[in-house]
Amino acid sequence: MTKPHFYITTAISYVNGPPHLGHAYETIGADVMARFKRLDGFDVYFLTGTDEHGQKVQKTAIAKGKTPQQFSDEIAALFIDMNKSLNISLDQFIRTTAQFHKDACQAIWNKMKEGGDIYLNKYAGWYSERDEAFYGEDELTTREDGKKIATSTGTEVHWLEEESYFFKLSEYTQKLLDYYEAHPEFIQPSFRKNEVVSFVKQGLKDLSISRTSFDWGVKVPNDDKHIMYVWVDALTNYISAIGYPGDKDGTFAKYWPADIHLIGKDIIRFHAVFWPAFLMSAGLPIPKRVFGHGFLLTRGEKMSKSLGNVVTPQALIDRFGVDQARYALMREVTFGQDGDISYELLGNRVNAELANNIGNLAQRTLSQIAKNCDGKVPQPGILEDVDHQLLDKAGQAMLIAVRGEFEKMQFSKAIEEIVQAANAANLYIDSQAPWTLKKTNLERMGTVLYVLAEVIRNLGLILQPVTPVAANKILDQVAVAADARDFSFIGAGYALQPGTALPAPQGVFPRYEAPSEEKIA
Ligand code: MSP
Repeated sequence: MTKPHFYITTAISYVNGPPHLGHAYETIGADVMARFKRLDGFDVYFLTGTDEHGQKVQKTAIAKGKTPQQFSDEIAALFIDMNKSLNISLDQFIRTTAQFHKDACQAIWNKMKEGGDIYLNKYAGWYSERDEAFYGEDELTTREDGKKIATSTGTEVHWLEEESYFFKLSEYTQKLLDYYEAHPEFIQPSFRKNEVVSFVKQGLKDLSISRTSFDWGVKVPNDDKHIMYVWVDALTNYISAIGYPGDKDGTFAKYWPADIHLIGKDIIRFHAVFWPAFLMSAGLPIPKRVFGHGFLLTRGEKMSKSLGNVVTPQALIDRFGVDQARYALMREVTFGQDGDISYELLGNRVNAELANNIGNLAQRTLSQIAKNCDGKVPQPGILEDVDHQLLDKAGQAMLIAVRGEFEKMQFSKAIEEIVQAANAANLYIDSQAPWTLKKTNLERMGTVLYVLAEVIRNLGLILQPVTPVAANKILDQVAVAADARDFSFIGAGYALQPGTALPAPQGVFPRYEAPSEEKIA
């Protein structure tokens, strides 16, 4: 049976500085989703990478006495390392300086040109290097020092006049509005959709898509004093990575259009307006969903070097462990909204939910099995209603609820469902008191511990996308075979074979002890 396909991408990060927690947050979100889909029976392709061209990178490199390529190589290596330390299950890490990517940019350019959507003219306008974007007068504010800044991003703009190729974005106003109307799920969360629709409704202006003032970019076909606007180049990564314009091994045909472009809220316009217009122009299908997540904040402010509140991905891993860091980030912040984080908030999640709830349930159950059942999967007697109820709540019903939340990328709510199932199991162990049954009713003790072992198996299975290493340790402890770890095994009753020897129990979610002088960030 062929599996349904699922293609998920993150934004590709600029290489003008090392990775920070905002990048890690997005990549973890995409990884959690990719792992979930794989375990849920999909053939997944997961793409991430780096966006290496543009004036900002060129300037930063030169300021450091390096060539843009050397500098990009160094920073890209840091992103690759970050992904390894975060246990990101990517299928490809794309770098926009790769030759195949540059070829793809020229191919899509030629297609848009053939369609009559590209023309040469002159551009004069306010440009922000930081945002790599032009702004209209009405989008600017004058700062106290007299400098003009883009109101929405606070970055400085300067007047730029140059010959430029333009894309006829104005011709796509109605086509895009029709597309949004026909595909209400295209832009998510829905409040982001409203922002995009009202922007497009004002009428789109043609877009300047080439530069002549610097040369760190992909050359425009047949006019190499121009390089492509970095966003034409960057967005094309989503198709170049899977084989566009050729498709030797059928990867492009298989995975395009993408199922989800996962990005931050600041770059929705590029993904939900420019990108579908480019694709329409080139005669290519439009991605199914663009999901804009919110920003991570500390004490209500955006993380930034100047505020000194930047938490590095590595600092979080060192403090909590990879699985715990992934869990706490996905749990603490509602995906789609901005969210405040601190070591204290994340540490509380780790302790309350992973250590005290799920970890403790596994520890209590497995140590009783080790002591009272000879370290083997216990033999159950006849199941009572209360047993069936728990097996459903922490089995099929949990899977269905978690899947529903994953469909909406509501990771925190999905985790909440798992925590609720573990809560129910903790209440069950307290009310059934297998330690008492040990003296009064050995058969019932066996049933209760068997039911709990099954629940632990289900919890181990469902936790794999978020806490992959610990979840697999849990599954090892209840002797689940490597080929019985996908979601089709959740709630499959009596999966554990009574009498199977189990390894000595080991804690998987230790308590987090805050350093005595805890500082937030
Ligand atoms: N290079 C462009 C994206 C091109 S995609 C075709 C870019 N790069 S970036 O490095 O500035 O940002 C990469 C991603 O990280 C974006 O989705 C951005 O929203 C996200 N984040 C950057 N800072 C963030 C936070 N503080 N919190 C959460 N995500 C944030 O934009």
